[in-house]
Amino acid sequence: MAQKVRKAVFPVGGLGTRFLPATKAMPKEMLPVVDKPLIQYAVDEARDAGIEEFIFVTGRGKVTIEDHFDRSFELENTLEERGKDAALDTLAAHMPETGTVAYIRQREPLGLGHAVWCAKRYVGDEPFAVILADDLILSEKACLKQMMEAREELGGGNILASMEVANEHTSRYGIIKPGYDDGKKVEIQHLVEKPNPKDAPSNLAVIGRYILEPQVFDLLENQAKGAGNEIQLTDALSNLLKSSSFYGLRFEGTRYDCGDKVGFLQANIAFALNRPDMGREIANHIKELASTL
Ligand code: UTP
Repeated sequence: MAQKVRKAVFPVGGLGTRFLPATKAMPKEMLPVVDKPLIQYAVDEARDAGIEEFIFVTGRGKVTIEDHFDRSFELENTLEERGKDAALDTLAAHMPETGTVAYIRQREPLGLGHAVWCAKRYVGDEPFAVILADDLILSEKACLKQMMEAREELGGGNILASMEVANEHTSRYGIIKPGYDDGKKVEIQHLVEKPNPKDAPSNLAVIGRYILEPQVFDLLENQAKGAGNEIQLTDALSNLLKSSSFYGLRFEGTRYDCGDKVGFLQANIAFALNRPDMGREIANHIKELASTL
């Protein structure tokens, strides 16, 4: 049986430049989709997948994330006094237990690979998950849970969430050179970072969910800067591939790139349409707007 994955790392140290000016004084991960910040969706997904410890790699200007996962006595007292029980329950429902959350400051945003490396001492010598909150997934079953199940079937190893992308978009993603493929799980022979469509080995892209073996930390420790002058996680994964089993999982669900303005708006529409308390109203409004186009 594969060793249990108990810890998840949430790299939230990025600058979010694609979302300026919204992200000037507010972390991108606190942007709400309908009524929940992106980071809350990520933590809920991790919990659904059985994660017990939550490790945030933060940076300057990210303290609202810490406040979000903390008690707010003033607010709670006021809600209690006013008899707003439903609002109180909403606050309590998403709170991780005391002692299960850790925050590490990434002093400089040197890249995703560096952010993951910052969690090395907290993760220790065990497999762990990485969730990028700005990749939001609408699915019946949590994407990370699907990955955990695939990992059980495979008996362990590294698993990356993957999806088919349009050929002309391969230059936005890490792209998989596929080996054995059962239609859902695909063996990864090689990873190519942001290839031009003509050089791409497939159109199967890696998105922001990873289950990794701890050996990746040793590689990240010595990883030179890559694309964008940042320490890239994909470069370390490409090295780890030489000695470790790697699979991509074609997860069931739709992924929204909420680090991008259009993706974020699409996510808001899709999540709102999916909500029983507002879906109908939003659908009617979209129809109304569409009729004027
Ligand atoms: P992005 O590539 O989306 O970068 O990072 P970014 O800085 O957040 O946003 P843009 O491109 O400037 O708009 C992917 C993930 O890696 C984290 C980000 O917080 C995001 O979740 N990250 C990136 C870090 O934690 N530290 C870094 O140094 C870079």
